[in-house]
Amino acid sequence: MSDRPEMFEGTERIWMDGEFVDFEDAQTHVLTHALHYGTGVFEGVRCYDTEQGPAIFRWEEHLDRLYKSAKPYDLDIEFSKDELTEATTELIETEGFESCYIRPIVYYGFDSLGVSPKDCPTKTTIAAWPWGAYLGEEALEEGVDVMVSSWRKHASSQIPTNIKTTGLYVNSMLAGEEARRNGYTEAIVLNKEGNVAEGPGENIFMVRDGEIYTPGLAESILEGITRNTAITLAEEMGYTVHEEATISRGELYTADELFFTGTAAEVTPIRSVDDNEIGEGTKGPVTDELQSAFFDVIESGDREEWFHYV
Ligand SMILES: Cc1ncc(COP(=O)(O)O)c(C=O)c1O
Repeated sequence: MSDRPEMFEGTERIWMDGEFVDFEDAQTHVLTHALHYGTGVFEGVRCYDTEQGPAIFRWEEHLDRLYKSAKPYDLDIEFSKDELTEATTELIETEGFESCYIRPIVYYGFDSLGVSPKDCPTKTTIAAWPWGAYLGEEALEEGVDVMVSSWRKHASSQIPTNIKTTGLYVNSMLAGEEARRNGYTEAIVLNKEGNVAEGPGENIFMVRDGEIYTPGLAESILEGITRNTAITLAEEMGYTVHEEATISRGELYTADELFFTGTAAEVTPIRSVDDNEIGEGTKGPVTDELQSAFFDVIESGDREEWFHYV
């Protein structure tokens, strides 16, 4: 009987630096630079079981973001985008997954433990495993109760916040765990200025008087790919989307609707903030329409420019 956590049951192999290794052998040295200093960049991607077969959602955009994330840290990814694509599709195929979550990570490995990663090798790995709704199936229907965290997001003048660095997630962990300790499902994190930034692993949207607002990139948010998907779908549905908004904490409480977007969270309604009911305290009509449009795309898989078919 395996002692792996449930989510990794049935996962046989992981791709590491050019080869597939058994799950148990996918190890790294304890003096890995990234373990000590958070010097890794990563992606979270979903492969969906669409009507066209398994297809990776917005793979090219995720790959682009991975390379962009690597840039400020001088992490030189020694594999091309084509090689990472081939490794990922082979992994999904050989594992036999119809749908799964994909986690590519690039990080500084072991050489010296100076803060400078100068001679540390760049390591690249890709894992995949079946993963359901991040905040639970019920959350997608009923919405989640969230609290505004007492932790603030890093300012984008302190560390790049628009890209996906491993070290940044200690902030996400603190905020998320604070929320769960207090009985909420998730947190909302304000930026240094006290305006709304995002969730620990999600972007946030607000609906007011039939228009849609989401914090802009200068508000210390990750440039979310599901955020971009939601904006595109909403505009196609005829909504005005203010994608460079500044949203105050008070506006959260008086919003008609709020929802999270993210690869893991997909489109999740928020039904209360700090125990203040949002709208009717259920999934609002705009959220509902957008969530349906999102899942229609995911289920059909026929929007070719958004899918990489396995
Ligand atoms: C901090 C943070 N914000 C937003 C998102 C949503 O981004 P995406 O839609 O690209 O998954 C994520 C998830 O990756 C995240 O970790």
